[in-house]
Formats: sequence, C-alpha cells, structure tokens
Amino acid sequence: MNADILALRIGLLGLGTVGGGVAEFIQLRSSRLTHLFGCQLQLARVLVREPRKQRSIDLPPELLTTDPGAVLDDPSVAIIVEAMGGEQPALDYMRRALRNGKHLVTANKEVLAKHGPELLALAAQHNVDVYYEASVGGGLPLIGPFKRDLLANQISSVRAIINGTTNYILTRMAEAQVDFAAALREAQALGYAEPDPHNDVSGLDAVYKLAILATLAFHSEVRPDQIYCEGITKLTARDFRFAAEMGYQIKLLAIGHDRAEGIEVRVHPSLVPKAQLLAGVNGVYNAVELDGDLVGRVLLYGRGAGSLPTASAIAGDVIDLARNIRKGISNRTEVTLGPTRRVLPMEDVSTRYYLRLHVADRPGVLADIAAVLGRLQISIAAFIQQEVDAARRSAEIVIVTHRAHEAAIRSALDEFAGLTSVLEVAALLRIEDGS
Ligand code: NAP
Ligand code: HSE
Repeated sequence: MNADILALRIGLLGLGTVGGGVAEFIQLRSSRLTHLFGCQLQLARVLVREPRKQRSIDLPPELLTTDPGAVLDDPSVAIIVEAMGGEQPALDYMRRALRNGKHLVTANKEVLAKHGPELLALAAQHNVDVYYEASVGGGLPLIGPFKRDLLANQISSVRAIINGTTNYILTRMAEAQVDFAAALREAQALGYAEPDPHNDVSGLDAVYKLAILATLAFHSEVRPDQIYCEGITKLTARDFRFAAEMGYQIKLLAIGHDRAEGIEVRVHPSLVPKAQLLAGVNGVYNAVELDGDLVGRVLLYGRGAGSLPTASAIAGDVIDLARNIRKGISNRTEVTLGPTRRVLPMEDVSTRYYLRLHVADRPGVLADIAAVLGRLQISIAAFIQQEVDAARRSAEIVIVTHRAHEAAIRSALDEFAGLTSVLEVAALLRIEDGS
C-alpha cells in the first residue's frame, strides 16, 4: 500500500439495520474514500449475537464473532463503531473500547442521553474521541451543526420532529382518519415500526434525542429523567378531525426553550398551525427547527432513520476521525458545557391548550366550565360544541385557550372532575404556534 495512505481498522458492534449499512458503506465506498481522503477503511471484526443469521449483507464468515473481546481488545483496531442499541451491554463495551484507547462512533441515543458526559470524560482521559452524529435524526446532520457551526449563537429554542415511526403514524392518522391502533398496525406491516414499538410510541426515543440536543443547544446537561414525556397512544381520530377543522396538524414535538428561569424541555403530541414548516413534515421524515440570536430561524430536514441514511452519519464521523488520526489530533470539536442550569418543572410551563370534553347537554353547563376557567385566569380563544347523543342529552365541546400555565390547567381538570355536568375530559393537548 502507498505509504501516504492511512489504513484504519474498524471494529463493528452489531450488524442489524444500522450496522449492515455501515458494513455496506465500507465495502462499497472504501476505494472512493482512499482516493478522496487518503485513508483505507478495513472492517476488522463484527460482533453479533447469532453469526448464522440470514443478513442483508454477505460478509466473510470469519469476520463475524460473538466474543466482544475479539473486537474490543484487538490492538489493530483504531475505531469502534457501536450499532447494537440498548443500554447494556453496549455501555460496558463502549467504556472498554475507550479504556483500550480506541475512538468510538455510536448511534446509541439511550447510552448517550444517560451516560454521555461520563463517556466524553473517559474519552478525554484516554486521549480519544466519541462521535455520535447518528444518535439523533439518523442521516440528518444535527450534532455537527450544534457542536460547531452554530456555536456562536445563543439558542433560544429547539422544536423537533425526531421520531420517524410516530411521525409516520400521525401522518396516516391525519390523512386516513384512522385511530392509533390501525395506523400502528400499518406502520408495522410496512416495517417502519419495530415489533416492539414501545420506545417510539411512548415518546421515550424522542426524550433520549431531546436530552442530547438540549444539552448541546443550552450548554448544560439535560438528563432524560428531567424531560416531561407524553406519547401518542391516546390520540384519536376525533382529535385529528377537530384539529384539522381549526387549522392544525398534530405532531409529536420535542421542545426545548431557554427561559430566564431555566431550561424548559418536553415531549408530547402538539397542535401545530398548518402554515408552519413543521406541520408539513410528513411520513418517516424528521425536522429540527431552532432559533439562534445570530442566525435566526434554521430548519434541518431529512431522513431520520434507515440503514443507509444512518450509515451516512456514521461514515461522516469515521472520516472526520480519520483526518484527526492522520494529523495526530483529538478532541477537535469537544462539547462545551457551562454551569448547570435549572430544568423547569412541567407545572411552570406556559402554552396554549386544546381541551375536548364530554358534557351533559343542559342549561348552565357552559357557565360552570367558564366559571372554573375564569377563576383560574384561563382565557378561552375558540370554542366548538357538537351534539353527540340527543336521547341521552350529552354533547362534546372543544375549547382552545390562550396561553395559560400548566399548573392552572391541571387545577381546572381537578375542578372539572367535581362537576356533575362534565362527564369526561376526553383529550388535553398542547398547541405549539412557535411564539
Ligand atoms: P438492530 O437492527 O436490532 O441491530 C442490532 C444488532 O446488534 C444486531 O446485529 C444484533 O445481533 C447486535 N446485537 C444486539 N445486542 C447484542 C449483544 N448483546 N451482543 C452482540 N450483538 C448484539 O438495531 P438497529 O436498528 O440497527 O439499531 C442499532 C442502534 O442504532 C440503536 O442504538 C438504535 O437506536 C440506533 N439507530 C437506529 C436507527 C434505525 O434507523 N434503525 C437510526 C438511528 C439510530 P444479531 O443480528 O445477531 O441479532
Ligand atoms: N425508532 C427511531 C425512529 C429510529 O423511528 O425515529 C431512529 O432513531
């Protein structure tokens, strides 16, 4: 081999959707990279659970191993790419790789969100780097822009659609007026949702991603357990119908705001005005909208999941590392954290609300409801009433409020529970108009 060409041996943990894409990229693009960047990537060993499994990519069988030490302790391996997922044993393998002086590239949002600062400190101690572009937004460049290109900005807000599975389900619920369960079945049949979709539909996957983004945006560690989370499982076709009637789309948003009193971070279904860019992000696509004091509003949009888009993000990290290794430098784009900021409790959040109530259809009901809201300083912006069951004299009402405090809305729900005229609070959703 030409003496100027740097041979880089890569140990891969996992050969599933993401790992398969990485192996494919190394096999198919290696010579192009050698030509462009003067480094030759070589797949050293690949850790899997079941070596005999049928896979989308054919690798020489001797490359596959079930022994983590064969990858993590191989002195010829310079970079470990982790694409296994889950917290353990992935976290222990990552620690072992860094202690062995290997650079780490990972797609693992759960480990990064929960243990990112520890891994970054361990890497600095061993003079190696941790790259994690693929952990949020798949192929969408997000970590690089936050760590480097937007660094001069004070970022005041981040609003993001960062889970492709739920965005696909919500898009179908809006288009086809079907309930959540039917849209999920369709997403699973098409292979968009995993057989166990819990982390996606509960909002947890978006929480991990928001923890990573908010930490970078606001320069203060935000842990997943500090983020308010509501998933999409309770959404109904009726809410989509009312939302559409009032000019909104329903999206699972991951929201971060830098407030004077602290950092506000939350993941929940949100009504987004149809005219806004985020409302038009459909299917499995992701988008992150942020506001910086110098740059203004920025929207990053693209494929947030999938084998090759995610491999693209991992490949970018590997190439960056290869350049560093060639120049003998590390920590070129370290994460800069300032003093730890307070994360606001959800009760302190103020936003607009959509309430759908089942009520008795008799005189005085609206006065009862208006009295509760008025006492709690919650102002009504719009109102719809529909007769549901004339024989049983019940009706459905939808109330849209002006900006109100979450604490006040929760008190209102408590008071509604004590009113005989309110039969059920069928839905409470938040409206995010970007103000
Ligand atoms: P996947 O398809 O389930 O693949 C996981 C791979 O890891 C499999 O090859 C599996 O081996 C191997 N593995 C898992 N646990 C192992 C263990 N204890 N020992 C040895 N091998 C083990 O998962 P994926 O979708 O590629 O996701 C991988 C990571 O990327 C996750 O952190 C995920 O959140 C993240 N990510 C995924 C996407 C996406 O579009 N899928 C996008 C961005 C980020 P076997 O094949 O032998 O079972
Ligand atoms: N399950 C994730 C999603 C994969 O649907 O967005 C990408 O992280």
